[in-house]
Amino acid sequence: MILVTGGAGFIGANFVLDWLASEGTPVVNLDRLTYAGNLENLAAAAKDARHIFVKGDIGDRALVGKLLREHQPRAVVHFAAESHVDRSIHGPAEFVQTNVVGTFNLLEEARDYWSGLREPERGRFRFLHVSTDEVYGSLGAGDPAFTESTPYAPNSPYAASKAAADHLARACHHTYGLPVVTTNCSNNYGPYQFPEKLIPLVIVNALEGKSLPVYGDGGNVRDWLYVGDHCAAVRRVLQKGRPGEAYNIGGNAEKTNLDVVNAICAILEELRPSSLIPHPSSLITFVPDRPGHDRRYAMDTRKIEAELGWKPREKFESGLRRTVEWYLAHLDWVGGVTSGAYRDWLDLNYGQRGRA
Ligand code: NAD
Ligand code: TYD
Repeated sequence: MILVTGGAGFIGANFVLDWLASEGTPVVNLDRLTYAGNLENLAAAAKDARHIFVKGDIGDRALVGKLLREHQPRAVVHFAAESHVDRSIHGPAEFVQTNVVGTFNLLEEARDYWSGLREPERGRFRFLHVSTDEVYGSLGAGDPAFTESTPYAPNSPYAASKAAADHLARACHHTYGLPVVTTNCSNNYGPYQFPEKLIPLVIVNALEGKSLPVYGDGGNVRDWLYVGDHCAAVRRVLQKGRPGEAYNIGGNAEKTNLDVVNAICAILEELRPSSLIPHPSSLITFVPDRPGHDRRYAMDTRKIEAELGWKPREKFESGLRRTVEWYLAHLDWVGGVTSGAYRDWLDLNYGQRGRA
């Protein structure tokens, strides 16, 4: 049994489905079902007795404590977070509440539970804290990639809240001995990603004939990892990662945003030539930049490769094609998540930038 938090979101849901298929042991899935959490993401596990879904907040200590004592998990895999940089710019308070205070409360309850375990369960227990490359700040074009010892320099409220959570997780290990392992991963893409993030937003907008908003000059660089590869990395870290350590995870696939948007347009033109009016690439629109926009992220993944034997399997080109195909085959899912609240978000984020 493991306890997963945020397992109804993009990466968490992929992880839960992947876990049930590969490891096969039961999962308790604690998720508050914010706008980003969707039980449709878990439809494949709806009738699976090994999946126990609990709607609730990671900051609810009574609930978390009860779940830990009742289910006696051998690990907590902590995905739950507010995860979108643009939303953190418009409303940072929620990010502090969930990512910092929520993570702190979760760590406290995990520590209490772990302290009461006997060997060998105590020694085997893991708290896997899922974090991001954004805590390291921004790179220039010629800078070496982030390593696990790059000093933290978060620039957005999202990144700052994740950095704070990473520090609390680290301190919980260092001071109390809780077997915490942290992963810092680059930008994920794949099925079930909420269409507020670049790749699904561009796919969904292109299908609706809406403009494809590119912030600034489109030259910002991200490293992209297919979500299935991230799930495999998290499983590997859970299995073999050393407590107290952090592991960078990345796809060795640095792309400018404009390259990503153009690649999506080309795949769509090939897969859906007749239904796309106008041609997607003609919809690309440069809009005012995100405030404080980090220029470049890049990950040095030699530690996880050498120590744990993990490498990404999916190439960016094939992973992106799979992703576009998934969205085309799941337009009902898209319809379900692009509700009234989603429209309000588009108005808030893009309305003042011109039009998306
Ligand atoms: P997401 O926004 O798609 O999903 C977050 C999930 O957490 C949702 O299901 C939501 O309902 C749940 N949640 C939010 N607040 C909660 C709370 N207080 N209590 C319980 N559940 C709550 O996010 P994602 O993209 O799947 O990211 C998952 C994790 O991975 C996050 O910690 C994020 O920082 C990290 N990460 C994401 C990326 C990426 O590219 N998406 C890259 C690196 C790291
Ligand atoms: P995003 O998917 O929000 O992830 P993150 O900010 O965590 O990297 O954005 C990826 C990149 O795409 C980032 O440089 C911002 C840019 N971007 C756009 O150009 N237009 C958009 O509409 C969005 C959402 C993002």
